[in-house]
Amino acid sequence: MSSKSPDLARLCAMGRDKLHAHAELYFKQGGASEPEVALVRCGQARAIFKDYGRTPGWFGHLIAPMLLWREASALIALDELMGMPKLYHRPDRRGLLMEYLPATPWPQATPADPTYDRLDELVAAMHERGVAHCDLRGGGNILVGESGQPYIVDFVARIRRGPCWNLPWNWLFRQFVAADRSALIKLRVRHAPHLATTEDRRGLATRGLAERMARAIGQGVRRGVRWLIARGDKSS
Ligand SMILES: Nc1ncnc2c1ncn2[C@@H]1O[C@H](COP(=O)(O)OP(=O)(O)OP(=O)(O)O)[C@@H](O)[C@H]1O
Ligand SMILES: [Mg+2]
Repeated sequence: MSSKSPDLARLCAMGRDKLHAHAELYFKQGGASEPEVALVRCGQARAIFKDYGRTPGWFGHLIAPMLLWREASALIALDELMGMPKLYHRPDRRGLLMEYLPATPWPQATPADPTYDRLDELVAAMHERGVAHCDLRGGGNILVGESGQPYIVDFVARIRRGPCWNLPWNWLFRQFVAADRSALIKLRVRHAPHLATTEDRRGLATRGLAERMARAIGQGVRRGVRWLIARGDKSS
Protein backbone atom coordinates (compact mmCIF):
# COMPACT_ATOMS: atom_id res chain seq x y z
CA MET A 1 0.00 0.00 0.00
CA SER A 2 1.42 3.43 -0.92
CA SER A 3 2.24 5.75 1.97
CA LYS A 4 0.12 8.85 2.48
CA SER A 5 1.43 12.37 1.91
CA PRO A 6 1.53 14.52 5.07
CA ASP A 7 -1.49 16.53 3.84
CA LEU A 8 -3.49 13.39 3.18
CA ALA A 9 -2.48 12.00 6.58
CA ARG A 10 -3.86 15.25 8.08
CA LEU A 11 -7.18 14.75 6.27
CA CYS A 12 -7.33 11.16 7.51
CA ALA A 13 -6.77 12.31 11.10
CA MET A 14 -9.72 14.74 11.00
CA GLY A 15 -13.08 14.10 12.58
CA ARG A 16 -16.44 14.75 10.93
CA ASP A 17 -16.83 18.45 11.78
CA LYS A 18 -13.30 19.28 10.73
CA LEU A 19 -13.71 17.39 7.45
CA HIS A 20 -16.86 19.38 6.69
CA ALA A 21 -15.00 22.57 7.57
CA HIS A 22 -12.46 21.56 4.88
CA ALA A 23 -15.14 20.98 2.21
CA GLU A 24 -14.54 22.91 -0.98
CA LEU A 25 -17.61 21.71 -2.76
CA TYR A 26 -20.56 19.40 -2.19
CA PHE A 27 -21.37 17.03 -5.04
CA LYS A 28 -24.44 16.08 -3.11
CA GLN A 29 -26.36 17.53 -0.17
CA GLY A 30 -27.63 14.98 2.34
CA GLY A 31 -31.27 13.98 2.81
CA ALA A 32 -33.40 11.65 4.94
CA SER A 33 -31.76 8.65 3.27
CA GLU A 34 -28.97 10.33 1.31
CA PRO A 35 -25.34 11.00 2.21
CA GLU A 36 -23.48 14.25 1.85
CA VAL A 37 -20.71 13.85 -0.73
CA ALA A 38 -18.05 16.52 -0.27
CA LEU A 39 -14.74 17.31 -1.92
CA VAL A 40 -12.44 18.10 1.02
CA ARG A 41 -9.01 19.66 0.80
CA CYS A 42 -5.99 20.10 3.06
CA GLY A 43 -2.95 21.69 1.43
CA GLN A 44 -2.18 19.67 -1.69
CA ALA A 45 -4.37 16.73 -0.73
CA ARG A 46 -7.94 16.29 -1.87
CA ALA A 47 -10.39 13.53 -1.03
CA ILE A 48 -14.06 12.68 -1.22
CA PHE A 49 -15.91 12.52 2.09
CA LYS A 50 -19.11 10.47 1.83
CA ASP A 51 -20.97 11.06 5.04
CA TYR A 52 -24.23 9.98 6.65
CA GLY A 53 -23.18 11.49 9.98
CA ARG A 54 -25.79 14.25 9.75
CA THR A 55 -28.51 11.93 8.40
CA PRO A 56 -31.14 11.87 11.13
CA GLY A 57 -32.91 8.99 12.84
CA TRP A 58 -32.74 5.27 12.35
CA PHE A 59 -31.63 5.51 8.73
CA GLY A 60 -28.50 7.43 9.65
CA HIS A 61 -27.75 5.21 12.64
CA LEU A 62 -28.73 1.74 11.43
CA ILE A 63 -28.89 1.59 7.63
CA ALA A 64 -26.13 4.05 6.75
CA PRO A 65 -23.30 2.09 8.48
CA MET A 66 -24.40 -0.98 6.53
CA LEU A 67 -24.41 0.92 3.22
CA LEU A 68 -20.96 2.37 3.81
CA TRP A 69 -19.64 -1.00 4.92
CA ARG A 70 -20.85 -2.35 1.57
CA GLU A 71 -19.09 0.43 -0.29
CA ALA A 72 -15.86 0.19 1.74
CA SER A 73 -15.59 -3.59 1.36
CA ALA A 74 -15.99 -3.29 -2.43
CA LEU A 75 -13.30 -0.59 -2.60
CA ILE A 76 -10.95 -2.83 -0.62
CA ALA A 77 -11.66 -5.78 -2.95
CA LEU A 78 -10.94 -3.55 -5.97
CA ASP A 79 -7.98 -1.73 -4.45
CA GLU A 80 -5.47 -2.84 -7.09
CA LEU A 81 -7.68 -1.86 -9.99
CA MET A 82 -6.91 1.43 -11.73
CA GLY A 83 -10.23 3.18 -12.26
CA MET A 84 -11.72 2.73 -8.79
CA PRO A 85 -11.26 5.23 -5.96
CA LYS A 86 -8.91 4.10 -3.19
CA LEU A 87 -10.36 3.86 0.28
CA TYR A 88 -8.34 6.20 2.52
CA HIS A 89 -10.00 6.10 5.90
CA ARG A 90 -13.22 5.56 7.87
CA PRO A 91 -13.60 8.36 10.45
CA ASP A 92 -16.38 6.20 11.91
CA ARG A 93 -19.10 3.81 10.70
CA ARG A 94 -21.13 6.62 9.14
CA GLY A 95 -18.38 8.25 7.10
CA LEU A 96 -15.90 7.24 4.44
CA LEU A 97 -12.93 9.10 3.00
CA MET A 98 -11.78 8.04 -0.45
CA GLU A 99 -9.63 9.12 -3.37
CA TYR A 100 -10.90 12.09 -5.35
CA LEU A 101 -11.09 11.33 -9.07
CA PRO A 102 -10.88 14.54 -11.09
CA ALA A 103 -13.33 13.48 -13.76
CA THR A 104 -16.72 14.24 -15.29
CA PRO A 105 -19.84 12.05 -15.02
CA TRP A 106 -20.40 10.12 -18.24
CA PRO A 107 -23.67 11.84 -19.26
CA GLN A 108 -21.98 15.27 -19.13
CA ALA A 109 -18.72 14.14 -20.74
CA THR A 110 -18.30 13.38 -24.41
CA PRO A 111 -16.12 10.30 -24.19
CA ALA A 112 -14.05 9.41 -27.25
CA ASP A 113 -14.83 6.08 -28.89
CA PRO A 114 -11.89 4.15 -27.33
CA THR A 115 -13.14 5.13 -23.87
CA TYR A 116 -16.15 2.85 -24.41
CA ASP A 117 -13.80 -0.11 -24.87
CA ARG A 118 -11.78 0.93 -21.82
CA LEU A 119 -15.00 1.05 -19.80
CA ASP A 120 -15.95 -2.44 -21.01
CA GLU A 121 -12.51 -3.68 -19.91
CA LEU A 122 -12.75 -1.96 -16.53
CA VAL A 123 -16.17 -3.46 -15.81
CA ALA A 124 -14.96 -6.91 -16.92
CA ALA A 125 -11.97 -6.62 -14.56
CA MET A 126 -14.31 -5.61 -11.73
CA HIS A 127 -16.48 -8.67 -12.39
CA GLU A 128 -13.40 -10.89 -12.48
CA ARG A 129 -12.57 -9.67 -8.98
CA GLY A 130 -16.02 -10.76 -7.85
CA VAL A 131 -17.91 -7.46 -7.71
CA ALA A 132 -21.06 -6.56 -9.67
CA HIS A 133 -21.82 -2.85 -9.38
CA CYS A 134 -25.62 -3.01 -9.88
CA ASP A 135 -26.08 0.74 -10.40
CA LEU A 136 -24.44 1.60 -13.71
CA ARG A 137 -27.65 2.51 -15.49
CA GLY A 138 -27.77 6.12 -16.65
CA GLY A 139 -24.00 6.51 -16.29
CA GLY A 140 -24.13 8.87 -13.27
CA ASN A 141 -21.75 6.59 -11.36
CA ILE A 142 -19.28 6.40 -14.25
CA LEU A 143 -16.78 9.23 -14.58
CA VAL A 144 -14.35 10.08 -17.37
CA GLY A 145 -10.93 11.68 -16.77
CA GLU A 146 -9.27 14.09 -19.18
CA SER A 147 -7.08 11.33 -20.60
CA GLY A 148 -10.17 9.26 -21.36
CA GLN A 149 -9.66 7.02 -18.31
CA PRO A 150 -13.04 5.71 -17.13
CA TYR A 151 -13.72 5.52 -13.38
CA ILE A 152 -16.50 3.89 -11.41
CA VAL A 153 -17.88 5.22 -8.11
CA ASP A 154 -20.73 4.50 -5.69
CA PHE A 155 -20.56 0.84 -4.64
CA VAL A 156 -23.41 0.91 -2.15
CA ALA A 157 -25.59 -1.38 -4.30
CA ARG A 158 -22.81 -3.85 -5.16
CA ILE A 159 -23.21 -7.63 -5.04
CA ARG A 160 -20.17 -9.82 -4.41
CA ARG A 161 -19.55 -13.31 -5.72
CA GLY A 162 -20.03 -15.97 -3.06
CA PRO A 163 -17.92 -19.03 -2.29
CA CYS A 164 -18.00 -21.61 -5.11
CA TRP A 165 -20.34 -23.97 -3.19
CA ASN A 166 -23.04 -21.28 -2.97
CA LEU A 167 -24.66 -22.01 -6.32
CA PRO A 168 -27.91 -20.01 -5.85
CA TRP A 169 -26.00 -16.91 -4.73
CA ASN A 170 -23.57 -17.17 -7.60
CA TRP A 171 -26.45 -17.56 -10.04
CA LEU A 172 -27.83 -14.28 -8.66
CA PHE A 173 -24.38 -12.73 -8.94
CA ARG A 174 -24.25 -13.66 -12.62
CA GLN A 175 -27.63 -11.97 -13.20
CA PHE A 176 -26.23 -8.73 -11.81
CA VAL A 177 -23.07 -9.09 -13.89
CA ALA A 178 -25.34 -9.35 -16.92
CA ALA A 179 -27.31 -6.30 -15.74
CA ASP A 180 -24.03 -4.29 -15.54
CA ARG A 181 -23.19 -5.35 -19.10
CA SER A 182 -26.61 -4.40 -20.29
CA ALA A 183 -26.18 -0.95 -18.68
CA LEU A 184 -22.99 -0.49 -20.73
CA ILE A 185 -24.80 -1.44 -23.94
CA LYS A 186 -27.51 1.08 -23.12
CA LEU A 187 -24.86 3.74 -22.63
CA ARG A 188 -23.42 2.97 -26.07
CA VAL A 189 -26.80 3.01 -27.76
CA ARG A 190 -27.72 6.31 -26.13
CA HIS A 191 -24.43 8.22 -26.28
CA ALA A 192 -22.49 6.59 -29.13
CA PRO A 193 -25.05 4.89 -31.39
CA HIS A 194 -22.42 4.39 -34.12
CA LEU A 195 -20.62 1.95 -31.76
CA ALA A 196 -23.71 -0.14 -31.02
CA THR A 197 -24.04 -3.39 -32.92
CA THR A 198 -27.26 -4.96 -34.19
CA GLU A 199 -26.91 -7.50 -31.40
CA ASP A 200 -26.71 -4.66 -28.84
CA ARG A 201 -29.93 -3.15 -30.12
CA ARG A 202 -31.66 -6.51 -30.24
CA GLY A 203 -30.58 -7.24 -26.68
CA LEU A 204 -32.07 -3.96 -25.48
CA ALA A 205 -35.33 -4.44 -27.34
CA THR A 206 -35.91 -7.67 -25.41
CA ARG A 207 -34.94 -6.69 -21.92
CA GLY A 208 -33.22 -9.67 -20.33
CA LEU A 209 -34.09 -11.50 -17.14
CA ALA A 210 -31.02 -9.94 -15.51
CA GLU A 211 -32.14 -6.41 -16.06
CA ARG A 212 -35.73 -7.07 -15.06
CA MET A 213 -34.53 -8.69 -11.84
CA ALA A 214 -32.06 -5.92 -11.05
CA ARG A 215 -34.73 -3.32 -11.71
CA ALA A 216 -37.38 -5.15 -9.63
CA ILE A 217 -34.99 -5.54 -6.69
CA GLY A 218 -33.89 -1.88 -6.97
CA GLN A 219 -37.50 -0.66 -7.06
CA GLY A 220 -38.47 -2.93 -4.18
CA VAL A 221 -35.62 -1.64 -2.02
CA ARG A 222 -36.41 2.00 -2.87
CA ARG A 223 -40.12 1.54 -2.09
CA GLY A 224 -39.27 -0.24 1.16
CA VAL A 225 -36.96 2.57 2.24
CA ARG A 226 -39.57 5.25 1.36
CA TRP A 227 -42.22 3.35 3.32
CA LEU A 228 -39.97 3.01 6.36
CA ILE A 229 -39.01 6.70 6.23
CA ALA A 230 -42.68 7.74 5.95
CA ARG A 231 -43.54 5.59 9.02
CA GLY A 232 -40.57 7.01 10.90
CA ASP A 233 -41.74 10.57 10.16
CA LYS A 234 -45.31 9.78 11.36
CA SER A 235 -44.19 8.19 14.59
CA SER A 236 -41.67 10.95 15.51
N1 LIG B 1 -14.33 9.34 -5.70
C1 LIG B 1 -14.96 10.31 -6.35
N2 LIG B 1 -14.26 11.18 -7.12
C2 LIG B 1 -14.90 12.19 -7.78
N3 LIG B 1 -16.24 12.40 -7.71
C3 LIG B 1 -16.97 11.57 -6.96
C4 LIG B 1 -16.38 10.49 -6.24
N4 LIG B 1 -17.35 9.85 -5.56
C5 LIG B 1 -18.50 10.49 -5.84
N5 LIG B 1 -18.27 11.53 -6.68
C6 LIG B 1 -19.28 12.47 -7.21
O1 LIG B 1 -20.35 12.59 -6.30
C7 LIG B 1 -21.57 12.12 -6.88
C8 LIG B 1 -22.42 11.43 -5.83
O2 LIG B 1 -21.67 10.36 -5.25
P1 LIG B 1 -22.29 8.90 -5.09
O3 LIG B 1 -22.86 8.48 -6.40
O4 LIG B 1 -21.28 8.04 -4.45
O5 LIG B 1 -23.45 9.19 -4.03
P2 LIG B 1 -24.96 8.72 -4.09
O6 LIG B 1 -25.59 9.00 -2.79
O7 LIG B 1 -25.07 7.36 -4.57
O8 LIG B 1 -25.51 9.72 -5.16
P3 LIG B 1 -26.58 9.42 -6.30
O9 LIG B 1 -27.84 9.03 -5.60
O10 LIG B 1 -26.64 10.75 -7.02
O11 LIG B 1 -26.01 8.30 -7.13
C9 LIG B 1 -21.12 11.21 -8.03
O12 LIG B 1 -22.10 11.10 -9.03
C10 LIG B 1 -19.87 11.92 -8.51
O13 LIG B 1 -20.20 13.02 -9.35
MG1 LIG C 1 -24.36 7.55 -7.27
